[in-house]
Amino acid sequence: MNIRCETLLDYPAIAEANILAFKQENEAKLVEEIRNSDCYIPELSLVAEIAGAVVGHILFSYIDLVGEETLQVLALAPLAIHPQFQRQGIGSALIAAGLEKADIRGEAIVIVLGHPQFYTRFGFEPSVRYEIESPFPVPDDVFMVKPLQSYQPKYKGKVIYPPAFGDV
Ligand SMILES: CC(C)(COP(=O)(O)OP(=O)(O)OC[C@H]1O[C@@H](n2cnc3c(N)ncnc32)[C@H](O)[C@@H]1OP(=O)(O)O)[C@@H](O)C(=O)NCCC(=O)NCCS
Repeated sequence: MNIRCETLLDYPAIAEANILAFKQENEAKLVEEIRNSDCYIPELSLVAEIAGAVVGHILFSYIDLVGEETLQVLALAPLAIHPQFQRQGIGSALIAAGLEKADIRGEAIVIVLGHPQFYTRFGFEPSVRYEIESPFPVPDDVFMVKPLQSYQPKYKGKVIYPPAFGDV
């Protein structure tokens, strides 16, 4: 398996992986909308490929954290592994690769809404521990954050997702 940044040629395969993994089109549309927004970070849209075929995709993009000041933080979403390739470590490898790149870029913190049993493996913790609030009511354990090396205590407040996230 090889992990690399997405290119234009990957767009259809990325859409397909998202539609098959989530069994709906919302996440594929989310990816497209983020790409067309100023929240997009090309370096943090990664694909996993096996024998030249895209089997998984992860996207990190900018969202706002609004507290005493408004700070840019990363959202991890979506993460999609082609159904035939799930539970083979590919999702984990994409998360690890993305977190490493984000850390090297000097990003401070990553926010995710997802399965706690899965994301806690990578050091994600309930956001309430960092006084970071979800914009909608969710159980504390599914709204998680992963502080990176550039994290500082000023990163607290309420998360605001951009309009692209409206349908997911
Ligand atoms: C969830 C997902 C990203 C994990 O990627 P993966 O490559 O299958 O996962 P890995 O092989 O790296 O790790 C396996 C772990 O993923 C988690 N996992 C996989 N599928 C899961 C599911 N349907 N529900 C909950 N957790 C799941 C489990 O913790 C699993 O651990 P286990 O095998 O010890 O039970 C992938 O299965 C997927 O695309 N699912 C459909 C879309 C989705 O739910 N995306 C994530 C949104 S938060």
